Amino acid sequence: MIMVSISIQNQIMYKIVVKDFGGVEQLQVVELPDSIFTPGRDQVVIKLTSIGMNHADLMARRGEYKLVSGRPPFTPGLEGGGYIQAIGEAVTDRFVGQRVILSPDAPRSTRRSEGTYQSHYLTTSDKTIPVPDAISDEIIGAIWLPYLTAWGCLIWKQSLQPEQIVLLPAASSSVAIAASQIIRHHGGTTIGVTSSFRKLEKLRAMSEAHYDHIVTTVNPDWSKEIKKITGKGVDVIFDPVASGAFLNEEIRLLAKEGTIWIYGLLGRPDIVDVTPLIIKRAAIRGWVLNDLTQASLDIQQGAYQHILEALAKGSYRLPVARTFPLNEVCLAHEEMEKREHIGKLILCP
Ligand SMILES: NC(=O)c1ccc[n+]([C@@H]2O[C@H](COP(=O)([O-])OP(=O)(O)OC[C@H]3O[C@@H](n4cnc5c(N)ncnc54)[C@H](OP(=O)(O)O)[C@@H]3O)[C@@H](O)[C@H]2O)c1
Repeated sequence: MIMVSISIQNQIMYKIVVKDFGGVEQLQVVELPDSIFTPGRDQVVIKLTSIGMNHADLMARRGEYKLVSGRPPFTPGLEGGGYIQAIGEAVTDRFVGQRVILSPDAPRSTRRSEGTYQSHYLTTSDKTIPVPDAISDEIIGAIWLPYLTAWGCLIWKQSLQPEQIVLLPAASSSVAIAASQIIRHHGGTTIGVTSSFRKLEKLRAMSEAHYDHIVTTVNPDWSKEIKKITGKGVDVIFDPVASGAFLNEEIRLLAKEGTIWIYGLLGRPDIVDVTPLIIKRAAIRGWVLNDLTQASLDIQQGAYQHILEALAKGSYRLPVARTFPLNEVCLAHEEMEKREHIGKLILCP
């Protein structure tokens, strides 16, 4: 087999394996032989420089991820990016040294047990997207989950209109901050909802967080505050929490014909009163990024191009909370579990 490569030898190759469902002690660094990363005809080997962490990684480790549940042992991770280090003989549209980001369906298209928490990643070349030079090595593997989750739901599915008001719970998360940038870019108004005064103050001072208003649930009158800001209520709610009492309040906050999009399950399932939905002809819908990967190529490529161009120009800016070496993954998971971070946590192999 003809294979083009640069110095794969002498590099330490490793991945993170969840040995069993449970705490961070279940995360194990496993060294790999470099023969594992030999590309097939249409494959490339990527030396990852950036792996975006997602709350779903914690849920997968604990055995709580309801949408995709792998069984241990498995390697977590939903996104990544880096440098192409080797290509198979049939690959003509990629080159060694090129910087690429994995397409959002790349980890799902390989075996379920092979997520992106790895020093190197083997995939077919059509699952890679070239990245403009202006986007740093550190963030290239952490863009899709925040930006495509928000763009796909709010722009593609919801067709957000200028002047619409969007409520963004979990305002300190990278998904909500990315959403705030996208909504403002499209002419909408944003209201962030966060869980502490400390985060509220930090988000107000943070140039990446494009919230027109921000409230905290620590204030018992937080929903009255939102009603006062909006008058008519909010048109759209983009919510990863979706728990009973909070969801009840959101339903009451909806404007006529408003929509709540639920994209995460951070809260506990509970009883909700749906009566106001009938009165307001309003809706609750679910959203997963996976749907965008089933859309036409035009839509997918339009989304990639818009987001990468905006990031390269600096009109969108990924909020980076902290980076960790990949072999410090236990610390990184503990950090995410504390819920004190604002923005994205990134693993750098
Ligand atoms: N549907 C999709 O395709 C898709 C894609 C990406 C992410 N997600 C989902 O989106 C959610 C957020 O993911 P992420 O990676 O952005 O997480 P993250 O960075 O860990 O953000 C979590 C934030 O959510 C807020 N929060 C409210 N209630 C919470 C609770 N009970 N437990 C933990 N956090 C709570 C907190 O923000 P505040 O303190 O500001 O309130 C917390 O900091 C997850 O449920 C994830 O699975 C879904």
